[in-house]
Amino acid sequence: MRIDVISLFPEFIRESAALGVVGRAGERGLLQVQAWNPRDYATDNYRRVDQRPFGGGPGMLMLAEPLAACLGAAKAADPAPAHVVYLSPQGPRLTQARVRELAAMPRLVLLCGRYEGLDERFIEREVDEEISIGDYVLSGGELAAAVLVDAVGRLQEGALNHADSASQDSFEDGLLDCPHYTRSEAAGTEGVPAVLLSGDHAAIARWRRQQSLGRTWLRRPDLLARARLDAADRALLADFIRQWQAIQPPRA
Ligand code: ADE
Repeated sequence: MRIDVISLFPEFIRESAALGVVGRAGERGLLQVQAWNPRDYATDNYRRVDQRPFGGGPGMLMLAEPLAACLGAAKAADPAPAHVVYLSPQGPRLTQARVRELAAMPRLVLLCGRYEGLDERFIEREVDEEISIGDYVLSGGELAAAVLVDAVGRLQEGALNHADSASQDSFEDGLLDCPHYTRSEAAGTEGVPAVLLSGDHAAIARWRRQQSLGRTWLRRPDLLARARLDAADRALLADFIRQWQAIQPPRA
């Protein structure tokens, strides 16, 4: 997969894409991330990339012309059709389900806004989708683009070392992940749930599923309300809730 990122801070994009799993995906040829700077497409002597908005008021917008020229160059760099995403707090919030869909596309172009954002006509003309990474405002789209590159990059076939580790992640089935315990010389097995030491793989799988359901119930009831649970899941959760209620201190 190829991802082109249009940003006034291309170094940040290059450096973040070179780290960890995503960096390795790049080395393995599974993911190609290229950063483009609209300033390289500015035509005036000052290489200006910002402009005052119509209607006045504080704040500047990104100048449309260098951005359009930069986007044109990025698109033309590869014949594969590009899905253009503008990272913005105005978009729908990113979910793991959407990440999976984006990860299956051959090519993305990510637009990172700075200042107060982009000209609305440019968005209407050029952008296929706006995406927000959460209900808070960042000072630019770069961190959001790095989040998207990471989430999509790690799902490229062969990027993760254990083939099944993505399918066990939080959110892959709409639930949070179960707790994990590392083998440690210093801490030994103290505080590790006995079932994990039992060697009984069916019991371990059941316990993990129950923890995943229970954690989601405790921490993210909104996710649980949308998750599809079968009868076995519902029984595990009911059992978790009973155990949890039994250890709650009495209310004063
Ligand atoms: N740019 C500024 N804030 C953002 C957010 N929350 N998500 C995506 N892009 C942004």
